[in-house]
Amino acid sequence: MCGIIGYTGRQDAASIILEGLKRLEYRGYDSAGIALSGKGCAPKVVKKAARVEILSRLVREAKLAGSCGIGHTRWATHGKVSDENAHPHVSSDGVIVLAHNGVIENYVQLRKSLTALGYTFHSETDTEALANLVALHFSRLESLGVSENRLEEAVRLALAEVEGTYGIAVMCVGNPDEIVGARKGSPLVLGVGRGENMLASDVTAFGGRMQNVVYLDDGQIVRMNRDDFVISTLKNESVAPVLNEIDWRMEDAELGSFPHFMLKEIFEQPVSLENAMRGRFSQDASTAQFGGLNMSARELRQVDRILFLGCGTAWHACLLAKHMIERYARIPVDVEYSSEFRYRNSPLEKNTLVFTISQSGETLDTLEAQREAQRKGYRVLGISNVVGATIPRENDGGIYQHSGPEIGVASTKAFTAQVLVASMLSLYFGRMRDLSFADGREMVKAFQSLPGLVSCVLDQAENVERIAKRYAGCNDFLFLGRLEMFPIALEGALKLKEISYIHAEGYPAAEMKHGPIALICPECPTVAIAMAGEMFKKCVSSIQEVKARKGDVIVVTDCPDDLPDGLADEVIFVPRAHDCILPILATIPLQLLSYYIAVARDCDVDKPRNLAKSVTVE
Ligand code: F6R
Repeated sequence: MCGIIGYTGRQDAASIILEGLKRLEYRGYDSAGIALSGKGCAPKVVKKAARVEILSRLVREAKLAGSCGIGHTRWATHGKVSDENAHPHVSSDGVIVLAHNGVIENYVQLRKSLTALGYTFHSETDTEALANLVALHFSRLESLGVSENRLEEAVRLALAEVEGTYGIAVMCVGNPDEIVGARKGSPLVLGVGRGENMLASDVTAFGGRMQNVVYLDDGQIVRMNRDDFVISTLKNESVAPVLNEIDWRMEDAELGSFPHFMLKEIFEQPVSLENAMRGRFSQDASTAQFGGLNMSARELRQVDRILFLGCGTAWHACLLAKHMIERYARIPVDVEYSSEFRYRNSPLEKNTLVFTISQSGETLDTLEAQREAQRKGYRVLGISNVVGATIPRENDGGIYQHSGPEIGVASTKAFTAQVLVASMLSLYFGRMRDLSFADGREMVKAFQSLPGLVSCVLDQAENVERIAKRYAGCNDFLFLGRLEMFPIALEGALKLKEISYIHAEGYPAAEMKHGPIALICPECPTVAIAMAGEMFKKCVSSIQEVKARKGDVIVVTDCPDDLPDGLADEVIFVPRAHDCILPILATIPLQLLSYYIAVARDCDVDKPRNLAKSVTVE
């Protein structure tokens, strides 16, 4: 939530920062702003409750020039969406300018004491208190005659008084080439270049400009100018930087010929799923293998319970993990929302292994849940996408999904890769226990066929688009599925509501008659996932109950010929496949359906209202 960026170098800072802000916009798009420092004068700020595109025009009109600056794209927490509340914020004495991602929890007290000292406030944000607090320490240091590294010291003193979370970029008058950054609870990455350095909430903001990065840890502070940078802790201990090379492919972060990132990412799934599997099957091809679990086979065999933690779509992947691991490995699995787990005193059994699932690797609720499990002495492994993010850096081992950057706010390719990895884990744990060689080999074959089968489902995009247009006017949808198709029903409903603003509910099909059936009417279509097998007839009965109440039904199925005549108003076909990959195949049409409905309703698909990717506030 919220993206921050800073650039100091010899090039036109405004265009570099604006480019970066465009790439960070998925983190929030309520407002955007930029500040460039000037020699001997206060930094110039342009900010607006508008998208980066509009900001770019305003910056051009204002003829902003300079080679050092900071920028921000906002997801509002404290204070409405307005120009005044947009970042960067300037201290009331005009000396400090600051962009912030996070929440300053004690801002009310800080505001009061700063007001008593003569500082004034022009926004409703928590951030402005921090800008003024840095200014207060900056001026106190000046009166003490401190000139060396004064901004860094002022930031350090201010942060010692702050409760909450922050990733910040700060500049001051008088040192036009310098930016100070710090983090606690919100991500911050330093980009190291030649004659230029950058700071940002994540590496995508660098757009290939920085090949070497340093991921800052919580409690660290960086002072940088165009030629140098120094990292230390908030307690002023020096930190030896660890440089990481980033493998950046420009086309991953660009739309290409697609109208939206969401559609691009849906269509990337044959490749992203292939990437999640690469090198992860054993020589004898009867099991999966994972390099980064940091656990011996003996330790893994001793695991007698697993707990999965995640939020939103990742939580749905956790539910799938439960189905798969219990079915193929026979290990009991619990699933909790990260946000609930961190405040509950869940009684975990001794040999419980904890997994977190997080695409961004920065979701604060999941990060804190992971820390809580670690504090209690449990080993936590992770399934994450963004390499170098805080969750994978802090966990005890894990698996990268290798999905590539996911830019559309609604998660698509990351979800299917999470489900695939969970399913491969079920094979891995299963083969360490009772799953036979033959069953293992069948599963591996199924996984290897997945990219091709996903392409077959994608070939039906036109049919799904037609169905989407037929139902785009409806304001309520029901999604039904049984067993491992229930989390898929939940995911289908979530996708639809987040990008189309349509009320949608996911239910286990048989639960419908216990309440949701009251919603059924001609204006409330039902999407029913009915796959061949023992649950097929049960699903058909549920669909009959919908039809009996004049509800339309869109059936997603791998056995369309077995549906009673006239039962389905629309059918979306998925190829027959092994149960270990079928949930992934069933997901694709639901992603397409929500995408095309959102487009038909003229919604902002990649930037749905009120949302942001990477939820780094509680
Ligand atoms: C929905 C969506 C969110 C995320 C959730 C967790 O499409 O993207 O529900 O799944 O915010 O995010 P990560 O996986 O980054 O922890």
